[in-house]
Amino acid sequence: MDSNTIPSAEGNGPNCLRAQALAALAATEWPEKLAAVRAIEDDAALDCQRSFEPIAGLPGRPERPHLVAPAEVKHRSMATLEGRAALLHALAHIEFNAVNLALDIIWRFAGMPEAFYRDWLRVAREEAYHFDLLRQRLAALGVAYGDFPAHNGLWDMAERTRGDLLARLALVPRTLEARGLDASPMIRNKLAGAGDKDSAAIVDIILRDEIGHVAIGNYWYKQQCTLAGKEPVACYAELARRYDAPRLRGPFNLEARRAAGFDDAELAALQAG
Ligand SMILES: [Fe+2]
Ligand SMILES: [Fe+2]
Repeated sequence: MDSNTIPSAEGNGPNCLRAQALAALAATEWPEKLAAVRAIEDDAALDCQRSFEPIAGLPGRPERPHLVAPAEVKHRSMATLEGRAALLHALAHIEFNAVNLALDIIWRFAGMPEAFYRDWLRVAREEAYHFDLLRQRLAALGVAYGDFPAHNGLWDMAERTRGDLLARLALVPRTLEARGLDASPMIRNKLAGAGDKDSAAIVDIILRDEIGHVAIGNYWYKQQCTLAGKEPVACYAELARRYDAPRLRGPFNLEARRAAGFDDAELAALQAG
């Protein structure tokens, strides 16, 4: 980066936590992206008010996997090695997108308290860790990230909510990541049932961390609702309608959702459909 064109003051220079998040988001190859995320220090300087010009080509992603419509992603039997590898690859792609989503909320939305940005940095790091666990497991099975096609549902919601922080919080961590809490036990059991204990153990780690991510989403969603004078359950229903969020279907992982901060009113609304 050309240091002559960028102010060098800590909080608004390239070392700003939010500028580093934007650079990591733009990185295309996974080793480069993971290294960029890991290089952001916990106590990196931070300018909460800074606005950034969007860079073309966000999010940075490798040429492969080839992106296809969700309906074109084949479901394969867990009884075969190829079937398990396809499932782990789909999870790795979700985690790759999740790294990008956590980085995107950091640079895109100015004017939040410092703790907001540091919370999402923690999420980005954990998503990078999840991606790496899955990538290593795939490598042990002879598969590389990019070997199977993938779909882009997670990032589509990021696009739709790029101008609306409350909607981003409602529909990404509190909807799509929370859906991961519901899906994890079944995925874990399928893998364990097929005798793949190593992969099942990775899903356990992911579920544990994802409860924390959804909790962070809930915390900031409710903080934003309070500031805007909105009632969280009614506001969620309105945002889900406006942005055409996927309808969530049970079975719900109520224990994990409670641990992630959903209250009784929210869980009742969820179960009422
Ligand atoms: Fe994750
Ligand atoms: Fe997550």
